[in-house]
Amino acid sequence: MVVNIDRLFSKRATRFRSSEIRELLKLTQIPGMISFAGGLPNPLAFPVDIIHECIEKIFKENIEQALQYGTTEGLTSLRGVLAERMKKNPHHHINCELHDILITSGAQQALSLAAICFLDPGDTYLTSVPAYLGAVQAFHALEANCESIPMNDEGIDTDSLRRNIGRLNRTGIIPKFIYTVPTFQNPSGETMSLSHRKELLDIASEYDFLIIEDDPYSELIFEGDAIPPIKSFDTKGRVIYISTFSKILAPGLRLGWVVASKEILDKFIQAKQASDLCTNGFSQYIAYEYINGGYLDKHVEQIKKLYKRKRDLMLKSLKEYFPSGVKWTMPKGGMFIWITLPKSIDTRLMFQKALAKKVAYVVGEAFFPEGGNYNSMRLNFSYSEDGLIKEGIKRLAEVIKDELATAYQQDTFPPDGV
Ligand SMILES: Cc1ncc(COP(=O)(O)O)c(C=O)c1O
Repeated sequence: MVVNIDRLFSKRATRFRSSEIRELLKLTQIPGMISFAGGLPNPLAFPVDIIHECIEKIFKENIEQALQYGTTEGLTSLRGVLAERMKKNPHHHINCELHDILITSGAQQALSLAAICFLDPGDTYLTSVPAYLGAVQAFHALEANCESIPMNDEGIDTDSLRRNIGRLNRTGIIPKFIYTVPTFQNPSGETMSLSHRKELLDIASEYDFLIIEDDPYSELIFEGDAIPPIKSFDTKGRVIYISTFSKILAPGLRLGWVVASKEILDKFIQAKQASDLCTNGFSQYIAYEYINGGYLDKHVEQIKKLYKRKRDLMLKSLKEYFPSGVKWTMPKGGMFIWITLPKSIDTRLMFQKALAKKVAYVVGEAFFPEGGNYNSMRLNFSYSEDGLIKEGIKRLAEVIKDELATAYQQDTFPPDGV
């Protein structure tokens, strides 16, 4: 008998969407394609030799423990060095001890644990938009409703936030949390100002919801002063801080961490036990040796140099080739630039034309859970080779100019009868 699998899937599973964008990203693997689409670190940023040394040390000293099951909380020694580093590091200044930290299988698992522990079907959460796709996917899977809060020059529009919360409260809805990436945000590259970080925490206290602060990029700062994370002002356990080794070591190790109150971590640990028992032990030993050996800070400096050069190249090429009327962000760190085109352009429709010219981006709409913003796109500058950045932007500029010319003709010569 043929299995009627659709009948057996949970209601929840039928809501899972494979993101259209991730499907489109497969097209970017076509030979000759210059892809600014993926959010990938550059392989040159992987400290291959250091990882090799760390592994040799593990084989000499700890191989049996590294291959054994570990505790769900994560390797004690790794949590210890992370806590020490977060206290001292200007990007963190988070006053925490090892028992305040949970090691996860990437930041993505931390987002998924937050979804499982806080969202019932029909619950509402807030997110600044544009928003990181993976977070929205994790929250959507739990059948939650999303309320989008626009970003502005200061990182989040706090007036709009207050208005939206007021509107929700009047209908009896109290959001569970707000999701935000305050520093060098994915996808916009923008950073939330210090005053807005403090104001966001005040608003969260006033209306009693949590803040999920996702912080994969703050260490990749190219210029200016580091702005401390919201978690560093949190004295009441209102902020769940999430970070990752993906951008400062290697994403293949699948290592992230959470700093949160004991009550929250206990729930996360129970949920994680049901999910994967513990994070990859071998990876955790590598990360421990990497930090304990004093390699991390030096290596981050090298990544920053590499990505700054690539950001500068992309900004220079944008200035040289993009037509007037196109705007872009000037990120001071991270991996992304956000482009806003004239309203007449729909980046979804333009995508196939860009692929035909062998250049790819991510359409901006993908980062808006409630749709819209069709005239925007995200460009990644960390991955492509230097020479290809200039060539890719040149190709993209041609596609945009063609699209603008077509839109202009359509405006000038409306079809008969219109
Ligand atoms: C904002 C943000 N959060 C979380 C993640 C997931 O990171 P990880 O590789 O640690 O799961 C990413 C990955 O790009 C990201 O950009």
